[in-house]
Amino acid sequence: MFKPFDLKLAALLGTLVRAMDNGLALTPQMGWNTWNHFGCNIDADVVLSAANALVDQNLTSFGYNYVLMDDCWHAASRDPDTGAPRADPVKFPNGIKGVVDQVHALGLKAGIYSDAGMYTCGGNFGSLGFEEIDAQTYAEWGIDYLKYDNCFNEGRSGTPKISFDRYANMSRALNATGRPILYSLCNWGEDGPWNFAPTIANSWRISGDIMDSFDRFDERCPCTQVIDCTYAGFHCAMTRIIDFAAPVLQKARKGAWNDLDIMEVGQGGMNNDEYITHFSFWAMLKSPLILGMDLTSMTNETVSIITNDAIIALNQDDAGSPANRIWKRTVADGGDLQLWQGSLVNNTFVIALLNTSPKNQTVDVDFYDAFFDQARPLLFLSLAIIDYLCLDTYESHSYRARYTSSKPGNWLDSEGANWDAPDEGVARGTCSVVYEKR
Ligand code: GLA
Repeated sequence: MFKPFDLKLAALLGTLVRAMDNGLALTPQMGWNTWNHFGCNIDADVVLSAANALVDQNLTSFGYNYVLMDDCWHAASRDPDTGAPRADPVKFPNGIKGVVDQVHALGLKAGIYSDAGMYTCGGNFGSLGFEEIDAQTYAEWGIDYLKYDNCFNEGRSGTPKISFDRYANMSRALNATGRPILYSLCNWGEDGPWNFAPTIANSWRISGDIMDSFDRFDERCPCTQVIDCTYAGFHCAMTRIIDFAAPVLQKARKGAWNDLDIMEVGQGGMNNDEYITHFSFWAMLKSPLILGMDLTSMTNETVSIITNDAIIALNQDDAGSPANRIWKRTVADGGDLQLWQGSLVNNTFVIALLNTSPKNQTVDVDFYDAFFDQARPLLFLSLAIIDYLCLDTYESHSYRARYTSSKPGNWLDSEGANWDAPDEGVARGTCSVVYEKR
């Protein structure tokens, strides 16, 4: 029979062994982060301008609600008396709490950054050995989100267990504050966080840092896949991160997501179609949707990409199920063609084609191919298109494919007729189609 003591013990064990049980990120988190555009050049004004822009541009109504301070908010040292972290007094004259209060007053949530090592990647003090006091101080500042990095980790990586223990210390410290703080683990995929992080964090980075390029290869991101990648590096092109994600996507679940990194949409290194691809894939693969451009000077094209509510709905879909890559085929012009399919709530599916080659391609999307791993009855059904999610580029860029059917199942258009899209080739980029059972 349980005594009160046993119940307390059970509750305590529960907090130790359950998932990152903070009730947060039931759908992937959305917001903005300082790093991609501002790097270390941040201060209270940068953060508050972005927070105001989120509100003024109405981005909050699309779900973007976290304002995240990345590296370089730090003073030169911790408080010498208490050991508590403190902010650069010039950049943040009212401290982090001053900024957080203003962010909260706008109806937004605030995030901060630290590192499970001696120093942050930018060379500021890290949190290794200071987990409790740091978590407690963040909670006192009103922080709602922690991104927790991996530089200068004193060699404390190399096996999943070593990495798990190092990151679990901060997870426990955050839980112990009693304040719900979203925990965004950032160890660049080392030791396979998709295996050990879902019980201690709300999201985990899978790769080295993103680069604002569609497909440029860079030696500094040397791995061709993330399983057993021993040096994550940085300068990883956007489509390379999609490749990295493909095998580990199904490790995600509600409250625990693969983080494909802060988005580069609107930063200038890709063209509009490429940014549409970037945003669509981050959405379909259930990555956190964290913006990284200067929110105060966005073009209309950028705004229309990040406010495409149909694409955002894919990301925030209640099933929480990332799309799967059905196939990837090299094409003679260089690059490849890929077919992706994902399950959504209410028997709907998303289909996406990705063409990373420099030229338009013609591709047959066979019904059986797209649904081969679904329950057998589905293969004999016909599915109707309910939405075509290619913004205006659908018309102007001929994002089309031949939809074929080698087995009984079939593609239907919204009127129920067999769908026979004209063969105009699939342009570089992607297109998403949502289907429903008929
Ligand atoms: C690492 C992270 C980046 C960013 C920088 C800050 O490189 O992966 O996302 O936080 O550190 O120094």
